[in-house]
Amino acid sequence: MMHKFDYWSPTEVVFGKGREDETAAYVKKYGGSKVLLVYGGGSVERSGLLQRVKEQLDAAGIGYAEFGGVQPNPTVEYAREGVKRAIESQADFILAVGGGSAIDTAKGIAHGAANPDVDIWKFWSGEEKVQKSMPVGVILTISAAGSETSASSVLTNKATGSKRGLDNIAFNFPKFAIMDPELTFTLPVYQVACGVTDIMMHTMDRYFNPLDNELTDAIAEALLRTVIANGAKAVKDTHDYDAMSEVMWCGSVSHNGLTGLGGQGDFAPHQLGHELSAMFDIAHGASLSAVWGQWARYVYQNRIERFVRFAKNVWNITEGSDEEIALAGIQATVDYFKSIGVPTCFSEAAEIGVQSEEVLRDLTDRCTFHGARTIGTFQVLDGDDIYNIYQAANV
Ligand code: NZQ
Ligand code: ZN
Repeated sequence: MMHKFDYWSPTEVVFGKGREDETAAYVKKYGGSKVLLVYGGGSVERSGLLQRVKEQLDAAGIGYAEFGGVQPNPTVEYAREGVKRAIESQADFILAVGGGSAIDTAKGIAHGAANPDVDIWKFWSGEEKVQKSMPVGVILTISAAGSETSASSVLTNKATGSKRGLDNIAFNFPKFAIMDPELTFTLPVYQVACGVTDIMMHTMDRYFNPLDNELTDAIAEALLRTVIANGAKAVKDTHDYDAMSEVMWCGSVSHNGLTGLGGQGDFAPHQLGHELSAMFDIAHGASLSAVWGQWARYVYQNRIERFVRFAKNVWNITEGSDEEIALAGIQATVDYFKSIGVPTCFSEAAEIGVQSEEVLRDLTDRCTFHGARTIGTFQVLDGDDIYNIYQAANV
């Protein structure tokens, strides 16, 4: 049954080799005359990309200020510093050069600079609603979070230890996303693997939901087959242009809403993973693979036909009883994660390791927002369920 939905995907996608050379034109197109460049811990300086962008802005007569140093799993504390930089430099356009961390920080800066009287965490905690913002553009350097075309931004509040997503279809979509697969050639293999995992999970966290939809499900399955096949090639050769192109486009489509239209997205593995990356600062994709298999084995019997369909259409597993096919599909997914080098339980994640019961209880408490929520739609999970899944992953 198709659930009601709104679909709006307003980000202009500028895809292909060398398209970053058109950055100044796109900044102008969307009204930018003074840019704040937001980037991470150094990769765009080392690759020379940042310098090329600056030269281009200079040539086009567009002024800019800089805000580098954004770390993975970005914090609201650092985004607040970016808000100050945007205001003091009188920026009218925020340009993220990087991945989900730079982009989500750029979105936070845009909201903060347009609302200087509001502490930006209030937008993430839900105390305030974003009513106006500033335009954001993106030059993407890693295929993973999908933030370049998503309505989300995820920030961590270090002071409280909480990682929260802000969904806002009016103000979180970037104006444009420049996507040149060659810009991802400098990625470490592990980051490519974490990105492939996140792309799969954006699709699977929508796919495993209470409803069936022919077109949406078929798109999701095609995307999964594509990212699985090309992800395997990409981790073998990060300079494989064709594979990196497929992975990059999968990354955007996996999280712009298309793969879940008419469904009721589950996202429980994402909620479980967010608490792990908030507490242990593990790469987001790795935090998801570390719990997915345990989540899947915990919930599959609730609607086994969904897992059977997944096994057949994504992994081509057709022999056996429904139970055997469903479990073989889960195992194939876990084996794939292992094959690309991401963890499938806590001990396989160097940043986590096997934890005490006390830590599992703390993770559970945070994941339920201290008892205030359940997670998931495929199977609604309460605190006891969440604890059981963390415990199963704690090997
Ligand atoms: O910081 P630098 O030096 O740039 O290095 C980064 C970082 O260490 C590196 N990197 C990126 N592009 C590179 C490169 N290294 C060499 N060459 C390149 N071309 O990769 C590392 C990871 O970067 P990051 O931006 O953190 O990766 P990702 O895109 O996976 O973003 C993860 C963040 O996005 C959030 C995650 O929770 C996490 O905080 N998410 C955002 C979503 C959204 N806004 O819609 C949805 C996702 O589910 C996710 O939660
Ligand atoms: Zn994700």
